[in-house]
Amino acid sequence: MAVINKGLDNIYVKESKICFIDGENSKLYYRGYSIEELAENSNFEEVAYLLIHGQLPTKDQLDTFNSFLAKNRGIDEIMSLMRLIPKTSHPMDMIRTTISALGMHDPDASDNSRDASVRKALRMLAKAPTIVATFARLRKGQDAVKPDQDLGHAANFLYMLSGKKPTEREAKIMDIMLILHAEHEMNASSFACSVTVSTLSDMYSAITSGIGTLKGPLHGGANEAALKMFMRVGGPNKAEEFVTETMKKKEKIMGFGHRIYKSLDPRYKVTKPIAEELAKQRGKTALYETAVRVEDAAIKALAAAKLFPNVDYYSGIVFSNLGIDTDIFTNLFAMSRISGWAAHTLEYLDDNRLIRPKAYYTGTLDLKYVPIERRG
Ligand SMILES: CC(C)(COP(=O)(O)OP(=O)(O)OC[C@H]1O[C@@H](n2cnc3c(N)ncnc32)[C@H](O)[C@@H]1OP(=O)(O)O)[C@@H](O)C(=O)NCCC(=O)NCCS
Repeated sequence: MAVINKGLDNIYVKESKICFIDGENSKLYYRGYSIEELAENSNFEEVAYLLIHGQLPTKDQLDTFNSFLAKNRGIDEIMSLMRLIPKTSHPMDMIRTTISALGMHDPDASDNSRDASVRKALRMLAKAPTIVATFARLRKGQDAVKPDQDLGHAANFLYMLSGKKPTEREAKIMDIMLILHAEHEMNASSFACSVTVSTLSDMYSAITSGIGTLKGPLHGGANEAALKMFMRVGGPNKAEEFVTETMKKKEKIMGFGHRIYKSLDPRYKVTKPIAEELAKQRGKTALYETAVRVEDAAIKALAAAKLFPNVDYYSGIVFSNLGIDTDIFTNLFAMSRISGWAAHTLEYLDDNRLIRPKAYYTGTLDLKYVPIERRG
């Protein structure tokens, strides 16, 4: 009998220098730098450069990189498509379709060289925030806000979303959230990108596969689900009762548990104080306090099974206090993760082998064909 690896747990598909997760000891590194170090000292553009090019940029390299991103933020080529997308569409369906469509307009569309693939990835990185903000506004009947080349990546996104320049702190918080979501080793969506490019397809197809894979609630959709869960609890005093009932019904606490982390997710540790800061600043502490009380009760119930809060537990509270609609949270994840997906796609291509696993056949063989009129 063949060994069947359903879920591919603990299967290595390549050697990698992009990301290391020590799930037992709450550690996450991008290219050797801990996530805490990057969240405190770096910014999203620099982290994207680090992931894609392998090392932190010099001042000149970062200036060139930033200027490429800023110049490529416009989405005129797909504005007519944006207006055709039903306002009721799920924002993940919207971004999957529009990123895919951009591929046909890319000046490097027919060039699959490494340099062209990097340029394509950077164009997607530059345009994704404009796509997300534009759809968020168009569906409410508001006009799109043109990108501002003088703002950084995170600040420009918040500006395009609300039409107002964010405060320095709001922009910094958005920037940290983008850093935290930029990369996470060979998860389902990075694997989807690698499978796609292993056929020598192209960067747009790879990233589109990643977006489609990220959409599911077991992957990118959990912060939205966690926020909705806090709203259902009915206030901080109902938290213990809610956790007991959830456990009784054998349902999951959203934002808890992880395939790799068997300890606290280090990204959660960065996110929780920001969620508290914003909740207090906005005077919206009830939901945050509910989340804290649910967390305490859920840790008591689940720690023995090594289930702890993950990045998605508090990130929804942060995003909603930045004025972002709940159903576009996963778009934000995709906007940032394009950097990690691109890094994996390029690394896989550098030493490509077609990904072609097997399915263990358990059906019957040598059946006789029966014409349709004789089938009962
Ligand atoms: C992330 C996740 C999909 C990882 O799942 P996985 O490695 O496939 O593990 P499983 O879903 O098989 O869970 C293993 C056991 O832990 C339990 N469990 C896992 N996550 C749980 C949670 N959030 N709440 C309660 N129980 C949980 C499962 O019910 C299962 O119990 P059982 O063995 O008695 O059946 C899972 O923990 C989950 O669904 N979490 C909630 C969604 C979420 O926060 N996703 C974001 C990940 S960053």
